[in-house]
Amino acid sequence: MKKDLLSFTGMQPPDFEEIWRRTARLKKMLKEGRKHASLEGKTLGMIFDKSSTRTRISFEVGMYQLGGIALFLNSRDTQIGRGETLADSARMMSCYLDGVMIRTFAQERVEELARHATIPVINGLTDLLHPCQILADLFTIQEKKGSYEGVRVAYIGDGNNVANSWIEAATHLPFELVLACPEGYDPDDRLMKESRKDGRDRVRLCRDPFEAAAGADVLYTDVWTSMGQEAESQKRKEIFAKYQINGKLLGAAKKDAIVMHCLPAHRGEEITAEVIDGPQSVVIDEAENRLHAQKAVLEILL
Ligand code: CP
Ligand code: NVA
Repeated sequence: MKKDLLSFTGMQPPDFEEIWRRTARLKKMLKEGRKHASLEGKTLGMIFDKSSTRTRISFEVGMYQLGGIALFLNSRDTQIGRGETLADSARMMSCYLDGVMIRTFAQERVEELARHATIPVINGLTDLLHPCQILADLFTIQEKKGSYEGVRVAYIGDGNNVANSWIEAATHLPFELVLACPEGYDPDDRLMKESRKDGRDRVRLCRDPFEAAAGADVLYTDVWTSMGQEAESQKRKEIFAKYQINGKLLGAAKKDAIVMHCLPAHRGEEITAEVIDGPQSVVIDEAENRLHAQKAVLEILL
């Protein structure tokens, strides 16, 4: 049966480990200049309802490096943008392609596509989740800290898609996640409840960024205004002002804490230039690891 990556639901620690074992191997092979055409002749469709730099480039280059090709399908230029149903698109694309990646608004759209497709579907970001990002981020944490086990991650800012995928990851894997979000901008309630099932208590939500940052191994943030929320941008700047990762907040974390951001970043808003461009920032490694982690996902699913 085909497998999808729509969220981390149903994934067990060994599934994550398998992805990261491959990620490490693929990264090493690429650095050593060794060709590895495991997906020769395979084709990935990439449907974009929203903008992207990293996701598009890393999937496209990843497929190329694995010997396959990727097709960029801007939904505005396809019949999806003119109202063709996702169900018909999924059935038809399944005849041409070996897999499809989709970046869109509602998570339900990704799920609908997957329901009707007979090929694997990968979530390249929805309003709810961004699983590919967190796979690369947790790999980066392992590179920098040796392991994610027992690590304390402080997520500061908006309870958005990236925050939600962090919560899903902490539900399945043994690390501690403390989120500091302003009231009214909490992460998804269902995912928070899920994280507390079976007596688990690795995820905590608070209002004070300093409380979250205290003793953290990782300080993480994302934009205050996500794609689709542009009209709220000014209001959000005011509400989130206290939730900036700056030198003072970094001072509350462990001395050897790393600073992460999925990018794109807005210097002077969610993070200062001094911190994101400073010695504790690993944001470029994170972005690079999108490529390697997604190649691992592609190998497994396709
Ligand atoms: N982090 C991330 O997904 O970046 P893009 O929006 O550029 O793809
Ligand atoms: N939360 C951001 C992530 C971008 C990669 C957004 O959805 O716009």
